[in-house]
Amino acid sequence: MTGPVLAVDQGTSGTKALVICPERGVIGSASVPVKPRHGSGGAVEADPAELLGSVVEAGRRALTEAGEPVSAVGLANQGETVLAWDPDTGRPLTEAIVWQDRRSAPICDELASYDEELTHLTGLPLDPYFAAPKMAWIRRELTREGVVTTTDSWLVHQLTGAFVTDAATAGRTQLLDLDRSGWSPRALEVFGLGDERLPDVVDCDSTVGTTAAFGGELPLTGLLVDQQAALLAQNALDPGNAKCTYGTGAFLLAQTGPAPCRGSTGLVSCVAWRLGGRTSYCLDGQVYTAASAVDWLAGLGMISGAAELDPVGATVPDSGGVTFVPALAGLAAPWWRGDLRGSVTGLGLGTTAGHLVRALCEGIAAQVVELTEAAATDLGSPLTSLRVDGGLTRSALLMQTQADLLQRPVEVSALPDVTALGVGAVARLGLDPRLPLRQAVPDWKPSAVYEPRIGADEAAERRVRFRTAVQTLLDQA
Ligand code: G3P
Repeated sequence: MTGPVLAVDQGTSGTKALVICPERGVIGSASVPVKPRHGSGGAVEADPAELLGSVVEAGRRALTEAGEPVSAVGLANQGETVLAWDPDTGRPLTEAIVWQDRRSAPICDELASYDEELTHLTGLPLDPYFAAPKMAWIRRELTREGVVTTTDSWLVHQLTGAFVTDAATAGRTQLLDLDRSGWSPRALEVFGLGDERLPDVVDCDSTVGTTAAFGGELPLTGLLVDQQAALLAQNALDPGNAKCTYGTGAFLLAQTGPAPCRGSTGLVSCVAWRLGGRTSYCLDGQVYTAASAVDWLAGLGMISGAAELDPVGATVPDSGGVTFVPALAGLAAPWWRGDLRGSVTGLGLGTTAGHLVRALCEGIAAQVVELTEAAATDLGSPLTSLRVDGGLTRSALLMQTQADLLQRPVEVSALPDVTALGVGAVARLGLDPRLPLRQAVPDWKPSAVYEPRIGADEAAERRVRFRTAVQTLLDQA
């Protein structure tokens, strides 16, 4: 039996830390916000020092609240965010270029003829969302100095001195050979990154070093990219198990088992985790704007924030014929059209904030349904479950809309902060490799289950309306 662990989830808009005890669950928690900056030309940057500071502060505060020592630390990261840094001093040489940053789009256009080859090799289609185009962009536009890596490698180096990344985070770069789970010389060559010094790709449950950042010397025994950490904590351990996290964006991941599933629908095929040398794979689809679309609506003054989705939505019975494609930062899988922008159609003099709120919820939910259908097609069978988590799951309106359009129950995790819980489980496995995976993950129970309340015909009609609106955007582009 291992003692409590400190699990830290370094995300786009904040860092969450939990102290997790195997017997008593979460005994300490803290969160520290971080503020990415949006600039012209699709720029989204974060201050590396702010990211590191938030990790240390959140971790220390959670430990203070717990008032108990921990045996190890786990760190989840936001995935496709990259920076250049000096490997001798650890000093950042650029800002962190956040996963939402679109400035590498011209590089993706330039490399379009390699898309098919790269997709087969790495499981990921060419898109500025992934790390490699951003790494190439940093090399062309910002600096040739130092190393260029995802933020986890820099954070881990700052914490322990190691130069590593875990297999699942490496799988988000478009530089990892999907079958071998090691760097692909061919992908590196295509991106002009063949001469780069790259971190070692390690198992997620490797002990990569020790850190004194949280007080005392603690081993870092768990590393995992955030969406995969949520998949693990949602107990999605068998093929067909799926989860959707409604955060800044919404991210649907479906477990596919010990072999990658190369589908035909445009979903990403990637590493779910590599534990004790054994790799699990998953399918991944993204809605780029979920909470950020809600924030956008709030910025217009329609609602004060996500907490008002339900009361404002309840002022009307339906969307009043309004259709909202919330592609405010473009569309990801299955369309992969980051250049598209959103649309709102069907407005009339009688349209109210309530109609727009309902249309937004339908727009987010309809995209998630497209992703679940794509995953079912690639897997060859319907998903066995859809477990959901993330801040927007507090909106009963969004969750009911999701169940209605999906025509299946939607099960909301009773556990908040599943990402941190997932990487906490990995840190425990790192401490005790004999621990069975199913014992390491937290017990799963729903806080609510939303059953569909509309019939299949009406759900189909609403989905057709959404698809037609997307097609109009595609035709106009
Ligand atoms: O792919 C990016 C995504 O994993 C970021 O998640 O929670 O930091 O917005 P989050």
